[in-house]
Amino acid sequence: MSKEALSVAALAVQRPIPSSLAWDERFVLGEESMDLMHREFVRCVDALLSSDTGALDAALAAFERHVRSHFAEEEETMRVSRYDSARCHVEEHAAVLESLREVKIAFGQGRADVVRAFAIALADWFPGHTRVMDQGLATWLARQRWGGAPVLISKLGLRAGAPIQGYA
Ligand SMILES: [Fe+2]
Ligand SMILES: [Fe+2]
Repeated sequence: MSKEALSVAALAVQRPIPSSLAWDERFVLGEESMDLMHREFVRCVDALLSSDTGALDAALAAFERHVRSHFAEEEETMRVSRYDSARCHVEEHAAVLESLREVKIAFGQGRADVVRAFAIALADWFPGHTRVMDQGLATWLARQRWGGAPVLISKLGLRAGAPIQGYA
């Protein structure tokens, strides 16, 4: 997501800018620890989107603490469970962390607008990453545990874990 994220973010400025990110039942994966982590991710990005300039420093630091532990936990789960589609997933995490590194440098040079653009890019990125990469891991864990994909009952109706491209 490095350069691409920042350019996506730059494009996002041309569209209506979201001022918040809210939890959506469609983000639920059925793996409790991942779902809790994702609720916290949404809270952190929402804080980045809605903080005034004076509060951005703290919001960015909180996001970094969260996202490092979030990604590390998922990657440890992949390693321990011998997840066979880990590479793309880990690469996406690494791209976000690289973008974060660049954003912190820009913010240190007074570019609060880059932090806001990054928050918009994260809000765009998260639903797709969760639906494909994180759902793939959740389905893998459920199959190992129960021999099947999790069945999710939500306000949106009944659905099994979404099929993942390249995953048998
Ligand atoms: Fe995640
Ligand atoms: Fe992930």
